[in-house]
Amino acid sequence: MSRRIFVSHTLPGEGFRHLGEHCEFEVWPGPGLIGPAALREAASGCRGLICLLTDRIDAGFIESMRQLEFVSSMSVGVDHVDVAALTARGIPLGHTPGVLVETTADTAFALMLAAARRVAEADAFVRAGRWSPQQAWAPEFFVGTDVGGATLGLVGLGEIGQAVARRAQGFGMRVLAWNRTPREVPGVEMVDLDELLGLSDFVSLHVALTADTHHLLNAARIARMKPGAIVVNTARGGVLDEAALAAALADGRLAAAGIDVYEREPVDADNPLLMAPNVVLAPHIGSATLKTRARMADMAVANALAALAGQRMPHCANPGVYRD
Ligand code: GLV
Repeated sequence: MSRRIFVSHTLPGEGFRHLGEHCEFEVWPGPGLIGPAALREAASGCRGLICLLTDRIDAGFIESMRQLEFVSSMSVGVDHVDVAALTARGIPLGHTPGVLVETTADTAFALMLAAARRVAEADAFVRAGRWSPQQAWAPEFFVGTDVGGATLGLVGLGEIGQAVARRAQGFGMRVLAWNRTPREVPGVEMVDLDELLGLSDFVSLHVALTADTHHLLNAARIARMKPGAIVVNTARGGVLDEAALAAALADGRLAAAGIDVYEREPVDADNPLLMAPNVVLAPHIGSATLKTRARMADMAVANALAALAGQRMPHCANPGVYRD
């Protein structure tokens, strides 16, 4: 049987460098990311696939891959994969939890501070030569919102939410959280979602994107938020209604937002958040440090090698495929 696997992008890390010692593989040579048609053609007939979160592993693709025995995604999130379709065929799906927790929490905190203190806007202002002697240090010049001592509401208290909570405690913040299944975490008060929205100066999203969480932060819930609050999203774009958030920023009900993820990526030029005031934008860089991306790639390779060896993947997103 062919041991050929397809890798949809060259990967950082040690594991990828040694992949050829374990199996025959092909990698998309680029330039850039592979598109859906090219992925279908290049991966055709392969036994396993190592992919990124930009690859749509939908039911049609899975159906066309008759020899597919495993998929290993270099991501913690698996909303780009039709997990049910894979599971129905008994195909394990690898992912990369844990290693990106602290890095993603850093990104959430960076966006929170940048949005609260208008860092991106201030940077653009200085570079544009607009800092005039008349405004050198006026009392209300570039005033923002305090992070220290404020109330943070975490929507989702998984590993990343908890890592954000630890950072917030260092800033003397009151930390509230809502989670589908309540959790006991020192220093974090579990509340229901409406209460969290009404009390929080900052709301940071940390839930996976599923049918249940799609547009969880919608217009009705945004209307329940504290006036002047700030939204941070490092989870998935689909968790919030981008048009509703942009409208709340435009009419001044919310003060600002820090956004790393979008409903469509790369972000469309007409995405309403690009036009909204006081939004700090990043291009889905939550886990983007050299060390973390190398660790994620190594985990993706380890998951693939375990599957190739007929073993259980160390990090499987659909463990129900293993019957033992
Ligand atoms: C990043 O968003 C990931 O899911 O790994």
